[in-house]
Amino acid sequence: MVRETLLGGQSPTPEDDSVLRPQLLQEMVGQQEVHARLKIAVGAATKRGDTLGHVLFDGPPGLGKTTFAMCIPRHLDVGFQIANGAALKAPKDIIPYLTNAQEGSVLFIDEIHRLPKTIEEFLYPAMEDFRIDIVLGEGINARTINMPLKPFTLIGATTRTGLISAPLRDRFQIREHLEFYNIEELTEIVLRSAAKLKTRVEDSAAREIATRSRGTPRLANNRLRWVRDYATDQADGHVTLQVARDALEMLRVDELGLDGQDRKYLETLLRVFHGGPAGVEAIAHTLNTATDTLEDEVEPFLLRSELIVRTPRGRQLTVAGYDHLGATPPEPEVQGELFR
Ligand SMILES: Nc1ncnc2c1ncn2[C@@H]1O[C@H](COP(=O)(O)OP(=O)(O)OP(=O)(O)O)[C@@H](O)[C@H]1O
Ligand SMILES: [Mg+2]
Repeated sequence: MVRETLLGGQSPTPEDDSVLRPQLLQEMVGQQEVHARLKIAVGAATKRGDTLGHVLFDGPPGLGKTTFAMCIPRHLDVGFQIANGAALKAPKDIIPYLTNAQEGSVLFIDEIHRLPKTIEEFLYPAMEDFRIDIVLGEGINARTINMPLKPFTLIGATTRTGLISAPLRDRFQIREHLEFYNIEELTEIVLRSAAKLKTRVEDSAAREIATRSRGTPRLANNRLRWVRDYATDQADGHVTLQVARDALEMLRVDELGLDGQDRKYLETLLRVFHGGPAGVEAIAHTLNTATDTLEDEVEPFLLRSELIVRTPRGRQLTVAGYDHLGATPPEPEVQGELFR
């Protein structure tokens, strides 16, 4: 009985994220430069029988940081442990991961920017010399014990490199920044995911979903799932361009891929702050949202799409931003005034 439950839990259901997540580097679409550099680093480490240097991935949510991190140990054919920066509170929390790390294995720390400073400092010798310094006792009786570790690879992922202290950042030999995907790459991801979900999706429909996914594979997959459900319930299960458009319309995803939250941000900037400049904290308060959420999840794509700009005095709508909202931008002189 127990065995069955376990097996049931392990076999991924079609809704499971792991069904769509690429398992090997060659299955990953796009990010060609990152892919090429990682392949060389992994290939060289394997050939030399060496431990791969520490790797740091950064970039907005849903672009493939975890996916890349999980592919690497499979290529190296080594053990893999996962920890989350938010769950590690003190050096003692990370010690088991470090002492359990087998030679050449990978320790992946997601949200590494959330590690407290004490753990960051504790990690320096672990990363550099594969050694940890444990303090025993207190006051005059305190002793430091140096404990050797097996050489391992630390892989960190973060949406905010800015929050990682420079000494920690510098200890990563390989640093990769992930960028938003273009429409062709996202279309390819949608088609591959559709095949894995055993759903027939026309090329034009895949492109439509890709166009409305804010350059983000996770959103492309989520939107594909919704379109598939819509097609199953409202049509014959076959995703045509019209079905994709109708389904996305119902999700209130617009032609740029912006969803309700993105548009609320732009509308607030226009209506409450007269197009800006406005500080992100003020916008977050007005929207009743956390500043981090706006900075991590909403702003990167709006900035990339040039709908807003960051100025020394805060966020400001661009002419394209006004256009997207169907509003008229102020006269250039008035905009100039605002900067003075
Ligand atoms: N290059 C890619 N090719 C194909 N699918 C991808 C690619 N990158 C990401 N995906 C898909 O997008 C999903 C989200 O990616 P992932 O979990 O790696 O994002 P992340 O950068 O770790 O996000 P977060 O910052 O939220 O943790 C994956 O489950 C995978 O299915
Ligand atoms: Mg992740």
